Amino acid sequence: MTSIRSIKGFKDILPGETELWQSIEQTATAVLGAFGFREIRLPILEKTELFARSIGEATDIVEKEMYTFSDRSGDLVTMRPEATAAVVRAYLQHKVYAQDPVQKYYTIGPMFRRERPQKGRYRQFYQINAEIFGVASPYADVQLIVMLVELLRRLGVTDAKPHVNSLGCPACRPDYRRALLDFLASREDRLCPDCLRRRETNPLRILDCKVPRCRETSLEAPELSAFLCPECRTHFDTLQQSLDELGISYLIDKRLVRGLDYYSRTTFEIQTTALGAQSAVAGGGRYDGLVKTLGGPDIPATGFAIGFDRLAEIVAAERQIETAVPAVFIAALGASAQARAFPWLTALNRRGIAAEMLFEDKSLKSLMKRAGKLGARYVLIVGENEMTAGTGQLRNMETHEQTPLDLDRVIEDLQQRFRESG
Ligand code: HAM
Repeated sequence: MTSIRSIKGFKDILPGETELWQSIEQTATAVLGAFGFREIRLPILEKTELFARSIGEATDIVEKEMYTFSDRSGDLVTMRPEATAAVVRAYLQHKVYAQDPVQKYYTIGPMFRRERPQKGRYRQFYQINAEIFGVASPYADVQLIVMLVELLRRLGVTDAKPHVNSLGCPACRPDYRRALLDFLASREDRLCPDCLRRRETNPLRILDCKVPRCRETSLEAPELSAFLCPECRTHFDTLQQSLDELGISYLIDKRLVRGLDYYSRTTFEIQTTALGAQSAVAGGGRYDGLVKTLGGPDIPATGFAIGFDRLAEIVAAERQIETAVPAVFIAALGASAQARAFPWLTALNRRGIAAEMLFEDKSLKSLMKRAGKLGARYVLIVGENEMTAGTGQLRNMETHEQTPLDLDRVIEDLQQRFRESG
């Protein structure tokens, strides 16, 4: 019978890798905490309508990539392709805004998109999201960018450069849209079939089409920056001045329109060269209209998501993963030594000391081999002779030095030794 394998695009993260994920998560939560973000945990399954209304019906995510099904009562539900819509839903559902509209949340967890899997692109992937509600100022956007750069710096990712853009607002974007459509009207023959369709649904996305012909065509297109209303212009200028003052180097990227419809004004992405084609390790922007679109008051918001898998891949390439090793391996030879040693093992474990033992009757040679494989720092040898003498042998696996250890004081002795040596 063939064995069952995981679904395409869905991957396991095994010990050896999880240590790195945990360490990234610790660094991320420390940085997020210092910037005033608090954790929110949300369901993985939401009503399909939530994503259709927020991300946009005509986006790739909603059109082609969502895991949507009707549950047993016939309700249409979707495994979240992103977290922002769900964070807004929770913010509204619990009327958090009524107590204090200004909220800073973070959430870490899996997202699901049925994309074509490749390195750095999975169908179940993880994100670290940060969202700020109730702040219209560009300083909130800057704060997010600074936080991202700081997190990446702490993780040793040095080539990460923020790309920034402004998409304007409902007051000025329609003018740009018209200008863009006028421009495209005479160039139909130079657009790919996807872009021909996007012209009807979401013409701005033509700007970030990867097809060379479309890229060339859009190079000549009118620029959104020339159409920004005075408020959007000031917002974007202040963002840039602030980044300059803080010494954050960035790139203005006029093609940065993002793949979700809810953005207004600031958009940004962090790209690195480490990932090949899948270059964005994080992306985000302002979504001032989304809270209202989802039935709430007119409250501005801004946020980002880091691709955890991509981040882990970048960090892994630069950093040796440290795996935990046992402080001590108890090599108990024979049934009675095992019976005597097992309570020591549990006592040490309960006191927070990583101790290991093999519950099998094996020779000293194979027990030492096992201890070596686990990378144990010490081995406590207890056989018939040691039990009779009341003294075990504690071997330092690095120096091979062996010291006698009073078997009546195993727990106290080891506890003290490991407390002292950290
Ligand atoms: P997004 O650009 O769709 O934005 O995703 C953010 C990041 O998630 C990407 O830059 C990438 O690193 C990672 N990512 C996306 N798809 C995949 C995939 N299939 N496999 C691996 N990694 C992936 C959003 O999701 C927005 N909700 C971000 C946001 C938060 N905007 C405002 N607040």
